[in-house]
Amino acid sequence: MADKDFPISGFSSLAIHAGHEQDPNYAHLTPIYASSTYVFDEAEQGMRRFSGEEDGFIYARWGNPNMQEAEEKIAAMEAFGISDNQRAPLKLKAILHASGMAAISTLFLSNLEKGDKVLSHFSLYGGTQEMLNRIFPSLGMQGIIEDLRDLEKAEDALKKHPEIKMIYLETPANPTIQCVDIEALARLGKQYGKIIACDNTFATPYLQQPFRWGADFVVHSTTKFLNGHGTLIGGVLIGRDIEFMKTKATKIHRMLGGNSNGFDAFLLVNGMKTLELRMERHCQNAIQVASFLESRPGVARVNYNGLPSHPDYLVAMKQMRHPGAMLSFDMKDGLQAGINVMNRLKLCTRTVSLGTCDTLLCHPASMTHYSVPREDRLRYGITDGLIRMSVGMENIQDILADLDQAIR
Ligand SMILES: Cc1ncc(COP(=O)(O)O)c(C=O)c1O
Repeated sequence: MADKDFPISGFSSLAIHAGHEQDPNYAHLTPIYASSTYVFDEAEQGMRRFSGEEDGFIYARWGNPNMQEAEEKIAAMEAFGISDNQRAPLKLKAILHASGMAAISTLFLSNLEKGDKVLSHFSLYGGTQEMLNRIFPSLGMQGIIEDLRDLEKAEDALKKHPEIKMIYLETPANPTIQCVDIEALARLGKQYGKIIACDNTFATPYLQQPFRWGADFVVHSTTKFLNGHGTLIGGVLIGRDIEFMKTKATKIHRMLGGNSNGFDAFLLVNGMKTLELRMERHCQNAIQVASFLESRPGVARVNYNGLPSHPDYLVAMKQMRHPGAMLSFDMKDGLQAGINVMNRLKLCTRTVSLGTCDTLLCHPASMTHYSVPREDRLRYGITDGLIRMSVGMENIQDILADLDQAIR
């Protein structure tokens, strides 16, 4: 275990060591704590723990050593190399959840109340979009959807809807890999006194740190690149206002019951240790896959924010270390061409989700968006022949060979 006062300077060193505490039995890794409750030496100790006077675990819905390790690691990675207003290293607080959607629910329900509105970009994860469209109205809240790449439109929306309390971004976003400028939107939002929240799932803190650009909150589906091996469902909410995170956000998280568990937190902790190495390889492969697809005659368009042809290339270059491992491409011959490519795959995997070692492809028009009316999905850039790809870490020649035979 690294000494607490060792001045760690590298991202991987931090990802490996941050959050780890010496196990009382000297186990090398934190063992999986499969216990619902934690005992008190005496009644007074219970009182001290419940009152917050003494740190310590009480009940696993509220946290356990595996979850705490994961939370501290993620908070350290999101804050890596960033200073606060006093030029001291930025401190953040993370709360681990059962899923990305649970973390997003805590974000909204701890910050918003009846009458409030959220301004968001039109390219959003489907679950978040449904939450804004279907759950918000029953709570007396509303999602306002705009193209947030256009700052004038964003400002018009802020003027028109003074009830907007939060600007919620997802960048890069599904499935066209659109990027919004976090810094520009945060600056605009702050002028109007708004909360800025960002879903950083596609990028991970290794590629992009929204707190550097002014975000107040970050959420992740840890199911994806943070775990990296497709072995769990999880999410995390991270906040800059430590007091808020320890009080309001913690209360809502505990009351909603969207807690993680020892096993998933253990898998997540060990996955995150290799984040830098994995993302380097994912990204190296992704740019080669994107350039290859761009050269194929059957492909009408490639959406990858690392290609100069992508409309948000410059924004991605500004705020991301590398453009990432997510891309999509549009088959010229439409629906059947998309289905044919999926059926011919021999190495890459046909599935939804993203961020695993293997390359994953899905065809939204016949899968995730099958039940969405065609006009609606076209509005969001989900054309009939569009295929989304999470570029894995296989050797590049094998990924390209599989794509080549599947597309031909
Ligand atoms: C960008 C993004 N945010 C949030 C979520 C929701 O995460 P989860 O499935 O872990 O609830 C997903 C899931 O795919 C996602 O892609």
